[in-house]
Amino acid sequence: MSTQPKVLVTRKTPPPAIELLTGRVLLDYNSDDRRMAPDELARRAADCDGLIAIGDKITDALLDAAPKLRVVANNSVGYDNLDLAAMTRHGVMGTHTPGVLTDTTADLAFALMMGAARRLGEADRYVRGGHFKVWSVDLLLGVDIHHATLGLLGFGRIGRGMARRATGFDMRVIYFDEQRASPEVEKEYGVECVSKEDVFRQADFLSIHVPLMPSTRHLVGAPELAMMKRTAILVNSSRGPVVHEAALAEALKNGVIAGAGLDVFEFEPNVDPILMELPNVFMAPHIGSATRATRTAMAMLAVENCLAALDGKTPPNLLNRDVLAARR
Ligand code: DGY
Repeated sequence: MSTQPKVLVTRKTPPPAIELLTGRVLLDYNSDDRRMAPDELARRAADCDGLIAIGDKITDALLDAAPKLRVVANNSVGYDNLDLAAMTRHGVMGTHTPGVLTDTTADLAFALMMGAARRLGEADRYVRGGHFKVWSVDLLLGVDIHHATLGLLGFGRIGRGMARRATGFDMRVIYFDEQRASPEVEKEYGVECVSKEDVFRQADFLSIHVPLMPSTRHLVGAPELAMMKRTAILVNSSRGPVVHEAALAEALKNGVIAGAGLDVFEFEPNVDPILMELPNVFMAPHIGSATRATRTAMAMLAVENCLAALDGKTPPNLLNRDVLAARR
């Protein structure tokens, strides 16, 4: 019988990360990129020591079905798919991949803001549709980003990346975060901390950079949208359920705000049918971290976290530190 630990990789993963696992573990690799239903995940995890997961729901039921499990290494920075309290109760470590995707995701958030402001989705469809017959002085007029006010909801790694980019465009940057940054950090990034309400009221562009957790679900709903300028544009590259999508669709339809740039959706991959019809929404299919280099770096970090846990070490990106005490 093999003494190697068994690891299930639940989704298609960049080859260098699979190579790093090969020979070190017994590998069960779901390389066809199909998301497994909970019963298949439970069946395949049943004799595993580690999981490398992307978005798979790690629940009490799954943990009960996988008694040997020691680590779930998320191949993402977001970890709203992990029930960390249940994992700690079961003595299972949870890890994620912070840092390596910060700039790539901030780039995409900035691109969403620019795309929505300058109506790039409409412009692309206009040209492809063969409508570009004559240049016109008021064709597809947008709004300026430079010298506008960017409001950040959340001022962690990616929010700060967005602030750094915005100062290059001479934007005024305001933010709200439950944990205010130090005066030194605020000075370094050239940002001003304001109340949550003032972020909604003052922003020309409001960009969301909070993790999804019970306190941030529907952080932006009809009342918050009503506080925003009618000319404002909302950008979401964090998690879909942070925004009440039906309320956003109504607000965009009724001119409560002017536009949106969205990489994430409340019930993705499904998108609210009203949003699908609106020209003032610039959309992407959850590609915030989607560059070859970054997706490879994320997968390598997930594997490093997994192997560290299986080697009896503390993984570099452990989320539930209290599990260490529980395991002693
Ligand atoms: C992340 O890393 O959280 C990205 O959204 C990919 O899931």
